[in-house]
Amino acid sequence: MVRTLFPVFPSHNSARQPRSARLRGVSGSLLLSCTLMSQTEFRTPKGTHDVLPEDHQYMTYIKKAVRHRCRQAGYKRIDTPMFEHRAIFERGIGAHTDIVEKELFLVSGSKREGGEDAAPVFALRPEFTAGICRSYIEHGMQQLPQPVELYAIGQCFRHDRPQKGRYRQFHQFDLEVIGLRDPSLDAQLIHVLKNILSDIKIFSRLTLQINNIGQPESRKAFADALKDYFIGKERHLPEIDRNRLESNPMRLLDSKEEDTQILVKNAPKLSQFVSEESKQYHETVLEYLTALGVPYMENASLVRGLDYYTQTVFEFWDQSTGAQNAVGGGGRYDGLIELLGGKPTPGVGFAGGLERMIWHMKEAGVTVPNKDQVDVFVAQLGPEAKKQCLTLVSELREKGVHTVGALGEASLKSQMRLADKFQSRYTLLLGKMEVKHSTIILRDMQAGKQKEMKLADVIPEVIKLLGKENLDTYVLRDHIGDVDED
Ligand code: HAM
Repeated sequence: MVRTLFPVFPSHNSARQPRSARLRGVSGSLLLSCTLMSQTEFRTPKGTHDVLPEDHQYMTYIKKAVRHRCRQAGYKRIDTPMFEHRAIFERGIGAHTDIVEKELFLVSGSKREGGEDAAPVFALRPEFTAGICRSYIEHGMQQLPQPVELYAIGQCFRHDRPQKGRYRQFHQFDLEVIGLRDPSLDAQLIHVLKNILSDIKIFSRLTLQINNIGQPESRKAFADALKDYFIGKERHLPEIDRNRLESNPMRLLDSKEEDTQILVKNAPKLSQFVSEESKQYHETVLEYLTALGVPYMENASLVRGLDYYTQTVFEFWDQSTGAQNAVGGGGRYDGLIELLGGKPTPGVGFAGGLERMIWHMKEAGVTVPNKDQVDVFVAQLGPEAKKQCLTLVSELREKGVHTVGALGEASLKSQMRLADKFQSRYTLLLGKMEVKHSTIILRDMQAGKQKEMKLADVIPEVIKLLGKENLDTYVLRDHIGDVDED
């Protein structure tokens, strides 16, 4: 069976590129030039994928942009457990949402005596918000200066039907601003997101959709009005929406079902139930967005699929496909912390899906720096050469040169073939004769030219050829205090 190595994200042409081009961002790795996947007994579970080196370059790039913009704006990093008591999600996200009803990955802590699975009390996190709010309460963060701004990056799990852009394990980055309620916070959060999406060069492919869904009382009145409207029309609704009408009528507004969309056109509008105060709040958010230069589209049908939202909700949509596969979404959740047992505390936040962002970056032709290139391959022949090769490899690495050494017993010819496969820029050859004369052969793999030189001069020469600015040296800029290492 022929399959591409990673069907989720089409990989870029990994043809050999000069080092300069590779550094500028054209990916190319040995692993990724392989397009055949072997038949194996085990594969990744349905809806999951390996993040291979090429995609890690994209992930690292996104994570850097997130970290950078979050630090600029005063957010601090938080990690919550990958699993939590399931009640946190059930109560927080809402028992009748798709995420809780259909998509929670339940985890039974351990086996009972007798080997039976214990009833699941935990669930893998389908998102970060509920866990972060639990942490805010648990660690008394209301004592800190408010708002508390937190961000997280990591895997989330939803037992959804896998399809393009929808996986069972995926990565989110998440921003939360907890402890204050003010339209300027909603706008500022969105502005930080605009900067992140611009940094990764996909903002122009997206539209910001925004709505205000009002306070819970307004939504309750609206839900009742919707139910009344649909009396006698239920049979025209597809089954999924007939059920939603009972459990979560607001979801009919953003239903993907055509029959529902037609009926919803004449249904009461949420805006008729939203209070003047909420409308004013919304207008102010929009004013601030304009002041910050963030373009938006008001969307009265946007309700979002999680129950904890109040007032502002927003999503970043693909301009061409719309609601399908939003790259991220968020909103205000002023009742969530109280719902989870804390004091009434407002909050606003957002989460973006990294896989969907990477897909957009690739579609837009965004290339990210390939930091995994091999600069030098050291080939050797004979026991003495091997010993010298070991120290040479280690010294080159110490200077920041990405170096691979052939330490097997293969012939020089096959080592050269290997150097070619590693796409190394230079190869150093150390045979018996070279050892005897304290020399080494330096071969420029692209130019196909080589020269013999003194072994003692080769490291400065390699550094000169690569350019000092391209060396991978790790500098600890922050002082951590002196410690005696015994
Ligand atoms: P969400 O809209 O459920 O919101 O998810 C946010 C983003 O995560 C989506 O827009 C999408 O990019 C990505 N995502 C969600 N499910 C999947 C999946 N199955 N496969 C791949 N990507 C997926 C939340 O999670 C809220 N916690 C956002 C939030 C934070 N609201 C307030 N604070």
